[in-house]
Amino acid sequence: MPTAPGNKLEIKNVFKTFVTEGSFGSNRETVALEDVNFHIREGEFVTLIGPSGSGKSTLLMIIAGLFDKTSGDVLLDGKQVVEPGIDRGVVFQDFALFPWLTVEDNIRFGLRKRGLSRAEADATIAELLELVSLTGFGKHRPHELSGGMKQRVAIARAFAGDPELLLMDEPFGALDAQTRSSLQREFQEIWQRTGKTVLFVTHSVREAVYLSDRVIVLSSRPGRVASEVTIDLPRPRAVFDPEFAEVERQVAMELAAASGSGSDISAFSD
Ligand SMILES: Nc1ncnc2c1ncn2[C@@H]1O[C@H](COP(=O)(O)OP(=O)(O)O)[C@@H](O)[C@H]1O
Ligand SMILES: [Mg+2]
Repeated sequence: MPTAPGNKLEIKNVFKTFVTEGSFGSNRETVALEDVNFHIREGEFVTLIGPSGSGKSTLLMIIAGLFDKTSGDVLLDGKQVVEPGIDRGVVFQDFALFPWLTVEDNIRFGLRKRGLSRAEADATIAELLELVSLTGFGKHRPHELSGGMKQRVAIARAFAGDPELLLMDEPFGALDAQTRSSLQREFQEIWQRTGKTVLFVTHSVREAVYLSDRVIVLSSRPGRVASEVTIDLPRPRAVFDPEFAEVERQVAMELAAASGSGSDISAFSD
């Protein structure tokens, strides 16, 4: 299937229905995604935002190859995604680190399919630790790290496979406000240095506007693309600039409309 030039990821007519077994053999169907269409260009930072239950995590899991879609196409570099692969690096909200492994061995796990020698792997791990400002912490175990540091390890591990696409599902959602904003800033720098294509999920309008080239708003279940906002503000962005506030307001309005609650501005709160 042809891919438009410059498109890293194409989502075409994607539907997802979950069938759950109820009591007495009755099955319940939940339509989580309904005819979702969008694309992400090479090197672009795109954020999905939408009310709880709008299918954001489901869509990321499908792109990661961890869930089957019901129908439609998910094309990465023009090829159908059918299973997980090292061309996609994944970061979730709950730090999915192996607690029994050191920081370096957690990152090494992300390198395992690249066929590097031990020395090459060690050099790459050192680079990745540097990338996420954790030089010197390689021998630590996750329980010795703060939440923010754990999430930086998760980011390093996601980069370890040198992925074509990073998939991040509310990666900073469990962090306190201050750690969250420093990780947003650091991650923005990492993104600018590495030029990776990113699909990010958040329910924070401010985070979406701070980080993204483009924000895609999903509607309440079933999830559909309700609208799209291009963020043209220069980087690094200052959240207290009037121009930032104006774009933030615009995205919050789109989100409120997509949530079917015109007066709901709770999205401003974080
Ligand atoms: N494994 C599953 N089985 C059944 N229903 C699911 C499953 N995962 C998600 N859903 C349902 O699909 C919808 C979308 O969920 P989700 O993708 O988690 O939304 P979001 O991440 O936007 O909050 C919800 O109604 C949820 O209950
Ligand atoms: Mg979710």
